[in-house]
Amino acid sequence: MVNEYLPKLKAKYRPHLTIVNGENAAGGRGITKNIYRGLLDAGADIITLGNHAWDNKEIFDFIEDAKWMVRPANFPDGTPGKGMALIKAEGTEFAVINLQGRTFMNALDDPFRKAEEMVALARKRTHFIFVDFHAETTSEKQAMGWFLDGKVSAVIGTHTHVQTADARILPNGTAYLTDAGMTGPYDAILGMDKEAVMKKFLTSLPVRFEVPKSGRKILSGCIISLDKKTGKAATIQNILINEDHPFISE
Ligand SMILES: [Fe+2]
Repeated sequence: MVNEYLPKLKAKYRPHLTIVNGENAAGGRGITKNIYRGLLDAGADIITLGNHAWDNKEIFDFIEDAKWMVRPANFPDGTPGKGMALIKAEGTEFAVINLQGRTFMNALDDPFRKAEEMVALARKRTHFIFVDFHAETTSEKQAMGWFLDGKVSAVIGTHTHVQTADARILPNGTAYLTDAGMTGPYDAILGMDKEAVMKKFLTSLPVRFEVPKSGRKILSGCIISLDKKTGKAATIQNILINEDHPFISE
């Protein structure tokens, strides 16, 4: 879906910067070097990660050299990789920060304190700051949106795989979306084979989840436009492509 539609989306919207969450791009578990390179080749500028970043052990071989990849900044000090990337796109410098929530997720450092710290660092360089807040609960994500309103250009949630319909501009100019949604199998449950997931609910026994290898697909995301001078958000719009919502090129 990324290979097919990202070039079409870029032709349609002509974004300065394209950010892709790739935490499960390797067949539903983690990311590999080839897939990281493949996402960049398809048109992504920055790859963000999340709680599944480490599921494919190959990441430890290349994360330190992956200039355009960020993992949640609130992992403990000493964790491989980095939590923020600075990138120049058509003359404008952008900071992309990845953070992970703590509610119904593994305990990490406080994402709010870490957000303050990272945003202060980023603002020394640029007002164009994007935050991927990888978190489970809508409330923790909304809290981060309001916490950073006026301090960053956008707070976009990832992790739940289901796109939310609450795209908005907060009063002080931060674009917000609780979850951008997932890209992958459409007739599935969070991208995994639905029969296996149903079996788990029906039997409460351990089940191995696999990504379906064929079938209908979905791509989800959003497009944000920012004020050239201030970095504040002007518009935000969901992107959803599947058989029920076909891509329209104009
Ligand atoms: Fe996740």
